[in-house]
Order: sequence, then structure tokens, then C-alpha cells
Amino acid sequence: MAMDRRSSSSTIATVLVLCSALASCNAAGGLPRPAPPAVFNVVSFGAKPGNTDSAQQAFMRAWNAACKFVGPRASLFVPPGIFTLGEVTFEGPCSSQSPIVFQVAGTVQAVSDVSAYSGQGWISFDTINGLVITGGGTIDGRGQNVWQYNDCKNNGDCVHLPASFHFNGVKNAKIKGISLVNAMGFHMHVTNSYLFRAHSLTITAPPDSPNTDGMHVSKSNTVKIARSVIRTGDDCVSIGPGATNVTINKVTCGPGHGISIGSLGKYPNELDVRGLIVKNCTLQGTTNGVRIKTYAGSGPSVAAGMRFSDIVMENVLNPIIIDQNYGGSSTQPSQVRITDVVYENIRGTTSTETAISLTCSPSVPCQNVYFTNINLRNTRTARLSSICANARVISSGVQTPAPCVL
Ligand SMILES: *[C@@H]1O[C@H](CO)[C@@H](O)[C@H](O)[C@H]1NC(C)=O
Ligand SMILES: *[C@@H]1O[C@H](CO)[C@@H](O)[C@H](O)[C@H]1NC(C)=O
Repeated sequence: MAMDRRSSSSTIATVLVLCSALASCNAAGGLPRPAPPAVFNVVSFGAKPGNTDSAQQAFMRAWNAACKFVGPRASLFVPPGIFTLGEVTFEGPCSSQSPIVFQVAGTVQAVSDVSAYSGQGWISFDTINGLVITGGGTIDGRGQNVWQYNDCKNNGDCVHLPASFHFNGVKNAKIKGISLVNAMGFHMHVTNSYLFRAHSLTITAPPDSPNTDGMHVSKSNTVKIARSVIRTGDDCVSIGPGATNVTINKVTCGPGHGISIGSLGKYPNELDVRGLIVKNCTLQGTTNGVRIKTYAGSGPSVAAGMRFSDIVMENVLNPIIIDQNYGGSSTQPSQVRITDVVYENIRGTTSTETAISLTCSPSVPCQNVYFTNINLRNTRTARLSSICANARVISSGVQTPAPCVL
């Protein structure tokens, strides 16, 4: 059965519902064939490429139709062309047993009016079990028009500008082969989610764009990001409170602030961070390589079980850094207990002398910090050093710089 993407979606839906009711759609009465995908094209629901008004209504209607569709393989399709979109929330649960697909072939660009956004996301996905985002298209937050309203540098209680993709309560998600550019806030924010995989993404924003993290993960379990290139103005990937079992594999970062655990301890009663693997990543010209940062004066929580393996640093300012005095506005020590941290096979270049800097908390010193095969070089001078405070360090293998002695 040939599918015309432009044919009315209700026709497609009807045909498929009939097909699945009859349990086969085969032409000649042979073996049952899998049902073709049900494509809900935003254009069929009234979105017009090139139009600068928000296609919010059309996207919502297409989502509702796809989400209600009971057969397998329902997709919301954004064809080639530029579509302008304001704040939308794609809400589940959806009816289909198979993942719902958000397929973007074209470009979706954000409405550039900060007053048009009320939540944490520009495009939000909420309470969905089974989601695929793919299609080779581009999600353009057009942050350059609104970054001037970000005052987080001077205001600790600032309201973050919306993330391009905000995932809340999403399970079994796969995001792949999409470009995200110039988010207003984070490019992706994953929270309250489970089994979330992202790969083959390109995330790009200027080096001076504020708080444009590539991906921020909080309160989520089993999250994987792989084979992606992330060049932004802030953290490449940032791990917030309540993130557990997160893997970052084969990601290239830079410019930006590097891979970051934290900031932790900003709010009372934060959840622990446990189980992080960062492997085979390359950091290019970032301010930090791999960083753990917790606020001075924080309440108690734990950041445990973090392994950084096979990391290449290229001209990174602070390749390995733990900063438990972040924010610096409190005279009280941080109470985030950092333990079981492994740095192995870390090599490459730094542009500062202090390649390793561990400033742990005097009230809860860092425990079980292992260094194995660290081989860094300063691009400007021959000098290289490590500094540590309140850290129990165990080292083996090559150690350049020499590990700090307490
Ligand atoms: C952690 O993630 C891996 C896959 O990345 C998965 O196989 C494993 O079950 C997860 N562990 C927990 C405790 O969720
Ligand atoms: C990094 O990649 C290399 C080559 O693909 C592989 O041999 C190595 O095991 C990887 N490292 C980790 C920690 O997975």
C-alpha cells in the first residue's frame, strides 16, 4: 500500500485501524505484512512552511491525532521547510503500543518572544512511554534574539530561558540524528525520565551564549548519550541532582565549559548522583574537562561512583577539577559527599599550569579518588602541577602531572 504523505491523515488512520482490526493488510491473502507507518504531517493539520506565525495549533492537532492512534508506528512528521513554533507540550500517555515518532526533516524555529513562554521548555514532552525523535532536521531556538534577557550571571535566582527540548516523565526514549542550534536555554533537559538514549546529535551555539548546555540530566535513571558533537557556550553535558546510571560515550565537546557534574547542593534535600561513566570523549578548547562542582554551604547529599575513562583533552583550561567551594557566597563548607571517583587514561594538553585541581570539602573530604595513567602536557610552559585539598587520592601508572601529596 503506497502512502502519500500529503493524503489526509484521517484516511490513513482509518485504513490502518481497519487493517489492524482485520489483523492483516496483505494484498493476496498471504502472510500478514506489518502495517505501514501512520504519518501525521503537520502540513495536513494546517502548518505552513515559511510562515512566521506560530504553528502551535497545527502541531498540537497533529500530536493529538498521532498520540491517540492505536495502531503501531504513528509519527508526527515535520516535512522539509521552515516552521515557526511557540511553546508546545506534547503530552502522553499515547495509545499505541509502539513508540511514537517525532520525525523532523525540516527546521523548526522558535518564536523569539520571551513573554510567549511560561514553562521550562519550548518543545516539551511529558509523560510518554516510548518516544523516538529523528529525521535529520534542525531544532533552532533562535536564542540570539533572547540571550540578552538572561541575567543568571548576576542573579542567583534567575529564571532560566526555556530548553529547546524538555523531557519530563519520558520512558524508553531514543533521540538520534537531529541538530539542535542556538537554544534559548539548555538544548535538552531530561528530568524524571528513565531509559533515555541519545546519539548522533549535533548541538551548536556560540561560545559566549549563556546557559546553553548541550544536555542537562536530573532525577533520571539510565540515560545514555553517545556519538555526538556538542559545541555551546556552557556545559557540554551537565549532570544534576538525582541523575543515576548515566553514560556519556564518544562525545566531542568544545567550545564550552566541558562535562560537568553539578552544580550540586544549590537547594535543600537534593537527591544523590550515583553511577556515571564518561568514556572515549574529546574536549576541545573547553574551560573545564571533567568537573564536579558543589555549592559552598550546601545541604547533605552524595555524588558517588563516577568513572572518567579514555578522555582526550585538547587545550583545555582545567582538565580535571573538583570544586566544592562553588558559588563562594557561603562561609560554610559544602556537605555533598564525593566518593569513588576514577580518572583513567586521561591524556592531551592543557593551557594552564594546574592541570588537576581538587578542592574538596573540609567537612566531607573526597574519598576513594583514583588516578590511573594521567598524561597531560602544558601547551605554553613546561610546568604542570596538581593541587588538592581534603581529598584521599590513590594513584597508579603514568602520572603527569605528579599527583598531589597531602
Ligand atoms: C544502567 O544502564 C545500563 C545500560 O546503560 C543498564 O543495562 C542497567 O540495567 C542500568 N542499571 C540500573 C541500576 O538501572
Ligand atoms: C574507547 O574506544 C576504543 C576504540 O574504540 C576502545 O578500544 C576502548 O575500549 C574504549 N574505551 C572504553 C572505556 O570503553
